[in-house]
Amino acid sequence: MASSSRTLALIKPDAVSRNLTGRIIDHILGAGFGIVALKQIHLGSEQAQAFYAVHRERPFYDSLVEFMTSGPTVALVLEKQGAVPAWRDAMGATNPEEAADGTIRKLFGESVERNCSHGSDSDENAALEIGFFFSTEELLRSRSPG
Ligand code: RTP
Ligand code: MG
Repeated sequence: MASSSRTLALIKPDAVSRNLTGRIIDHILGAGFGIVALKQIHLGSEQAQAFYAVHRERPFYDSLVEFMTSGPTVALVLEKQGAVPAWRDAMGATNPEEAADGTIRKLFGESVERNCSHGSDSDENAALEIGFFFSTEELLRSRSPG
């Protein structure tokens, strides 16, 4: 059997501010992910700019940084077989209007920007993004249930 892998998930400020954290975590657990680590953090501008640096030339970059610093974000390290694609499937398309029924963005997303969740897009970026939010010690001290 293939071993499990990890991805970084964010519950973005639009969802945290609407008290959707619990419902989204329910969705995560219901989809069979283990939660390896979890924290709530209010990103500063420099952190948000760095996290989304890949989009710095895009027209939505300044707006995205403003949104991501508008309130607290919940960061989670999720574990499952094929965690990166599995979490992106569970979130649905970037634009909630285009997301499949039952996905997190379809259920809870407000707009293409305020789409309530983030997921890493490759195993390599997952490792980098997990390191952005969590120290090695935090990860070593955590383990999934089961
Ligand atoms: P994410 O990185 O947050 O998981 O989202 P994604 O891969 O589905 O989408 P990506 O292209 O990486 O875009 C990152 C985030 O930027 C905001 N966005 N706004 N106004 C716009 O046209 C626009 N396009 C993207 C969204 O918050 C998106 O999740
Ligand atoms: Mg992305």
